[in-house]
Amino acid sequence: MPEKPSVPAGSFTSVLNEKRQFKPSAAFSKAAHLGSEAAYQKLYRESIKSPEKFWGRMAKQELIWQRPFKKVLQWKEPFAKWFVGGALNVSVNCLDRHLGTATANKAALIWEGEPAADGKPGEERTLTYQQLHREVCRFGNVLKQKGIQPGDRVIIYLPMVPEAAIAMLACTRIGAVHSVVFGGFSAQSVADRVQDCGAKMIITSDGGYRRGGVVPLKKNVDDALEIRTSEGIHLAASVSSVIVLRRTGHEISMRTGRDFWWHQEIEHAASECPPARMDSEAPLFILYTSGSTGKPKGILHSTGGYLLGAKLTTRYVFDLKESDVYWCTADVGWVTGHSYVVYGPLANGGTSLMYEGAPNFPEPDRFWRIVDKYRVTILYTAPTAIRAFMKWGDQWPNKHDLSSLRLLGSVGEPINPEAWMWYFTVIGKKRCPIVDTWWQTETGSILITPLPGVTPTKPGSATRAFFGIFPEVVDEQGKGVPRNTGGKLVIRKPWPSMLRGLWGDNERYKQVYWSEVKGSYFTGDGCRQDKDGYFWIVGRIDDVLNVAGHRIGTAEVESALVSHPSVAESAVVGRPDELKGQALVAFVTLKTGVTPSSQLREQLRQHVGKEIGPVAKPDDIRFADLLPKTRSGKIMRRFLKQVASGAEIKGDTTTLEDLSVLSKLSSQDD
Ligand code: WTA
Repeated sequence: MPEKPSVPAGSFTSVLNEKRQFKPSAAFSKAAHLGSEAAYQKLYRESIKSPEKFWGRMAKQELIWQRPFKKVLQWKEPFAKWFVGGALNVSVNCLDRHLGTATANKAALIWEGEPAADGKPGEERTLTYQQLHREVCRFGNVLKQKGIQPGDRVIIYLPMVPEAAIAMLACTRIGAVHSVVFGGFSAQSVADRVQDCGAKMIITSDGGYRRGGVVPLKKNVDDALEIRTSEGIHLAASVSSVIVLRRTGHEISMRTGRDFWWHQEIEHAASECPPARMDSEAPLFILYTSGSTGKPKGILHSTGGYLLGAKLTTRYVFDLKESDVYWCTADVGWVTGHSYVVYGPLANGGTSLMYEGAPNFPEPDRFWRIVDKYRVTILYTAPTAIRAFMKWGDQWPNKHDLSSLRLLGSVGEPINPEAWMWYFTVIGKKRCPIVDTWWQTETGSILITPLPGVTPTKPGSATRAFFGIFPEVVDEQGKGVPRNTGGKLVIRKPWPSMLRGLWGDNERYKQVYWSEVKGSYFTGDGCRQDKDGYFWIVGRIDDVLNVAGHRIGTAEVESALVSHPSVAESAVVGRPDELKGQALVAFVTLKTGVTPSSQLREQLRQHVGKEIGPVAKPDDIRFADLLPKTRSGKIMRRFLKQVASGAEIKGDTTTLEDLSVLSKLSSQDD
């Protein structure tokens, strides 16, 4: 059992920073979609006072409905139905609506492939709305031809290539539910997800490029399809076909009757594919994310509400305009890639840039070279990347012309004020507003954020709530705390793009999100509001870590470790890390007769990589004779966190089973 989340002190930034404010420039405000505090206040007030009126109007105004909705919200806590009775199709809202307009021949996606190790430039591809529409329809027909029907689940396990977006949109075209699995996850993770959602198909590629190497995606799929549990359960038994994109040209094995090449299937596919009429509440996608217990949870999003959230936030938070070249650097395997590479920008008729590779390959100026080359105007990336750029030095961005940039965004973890200032000064040349956007896989779209042109920003604060969002910082009893006091961040009212549940597990949905604080959605984050009402997110207060912007559940890594034959018990905690925000530290006790060694340590890291994926490999493994436990047998994570970060042991140790354990843990240095 995880320990109960404790309320953080909430004082990670000094008051000094709070005083430092950056007001939007008059020129920016004048040209922005929303350019005044009064306009924000008016809309915000309406959205909270009369949410149904506000959201109803937005849904009518922003989305194309095949059948109008009858009721804006049906709320039976914790289950929400938005735009009840309405029908729409996401691909129509992202693509068809732009055909026959001036946007039809505009770039919808600009893609840049990873360059070769010798510096040879990567491939480039541009798909206009018209072309993207055609590809989506053709691939939609391939899915149908392979027997995929509305409601069926399809796993997408692809690198950052345009086909990832095409596959997602093709699913929405025919009403299939996609579940994108990040290419950095292992065969085991693919198999677990297939089993959980009962996927019929996997879409993958012969490989993906990453820092000059090739990620063997198809090989992982082959392995995933064979995995059987110790009880003999065939995890991926539901999969009847695999579509394989040719990306690297590396040799792979293809099984007749099960595996099909994308390019061959699409060759004869018609470019007309009537859009499925989907109920507003029909499942749109499932995205797995880590929680504080057990296996990753299948976060379920539905059609109408999700699309409205993604569209509206993209327009207002990024001030997205006709002429922008917008670049969100997230992989489509994460929610940021869903909402802000694919659905949000396309629903707005924007130009979305996709990049396949890493920020420092072949050199640490990759991002700045791309900004320069494509004249990127809006850049949205993660603090972990910003901190890495800071470390690599100003010479890399300074080599390039970044004058096209007009807005910068940050997401995924709290941004430390130093990184904020560097981003603002070195990248934005003090001209570009920064939007520090707080949200989660579960929230579907950005909930707390500055609006550029409106909100004065403070480095390190995500500032204020977006329209229709009612966040509050509360204490253990669920009561609002006074300003400048730390507490738990909750959302008091339902919003359209909120998760609809966990795939196949309503009980867990209720328990994880709606039982911690009565009547409110519990975010799992600690937070504080300053005297101006600005939100300062402290980070997770449950047993979820944020490593380089990736959510990793400690329970998942622990169970991967104990599945190794040498391991008796393990406890995983985070320690602060300059670049990654948090690093993973695993305390491991070994089975009798097994001796600790550096080889074993490396074996265990590899084992976690195989069980979950390289992103979850512990940064540090410490062998221990015993783990510190309370008399009732609970592992005392609080102490382990202190040991991991090298801090002096503080707090009540009276319930410790064996005090000598602590001194042994902290004195280990090999
Ligand atoms: C953290 C990513 C501080 C937070 C969109 C949240 C942030 C978790 C911010 C969700 C931010 C995200 N400031 N913390 N601007 N954005 N977080 O589901 O702890 O991968 O709960 O969604 O990231 O991570 P997820």
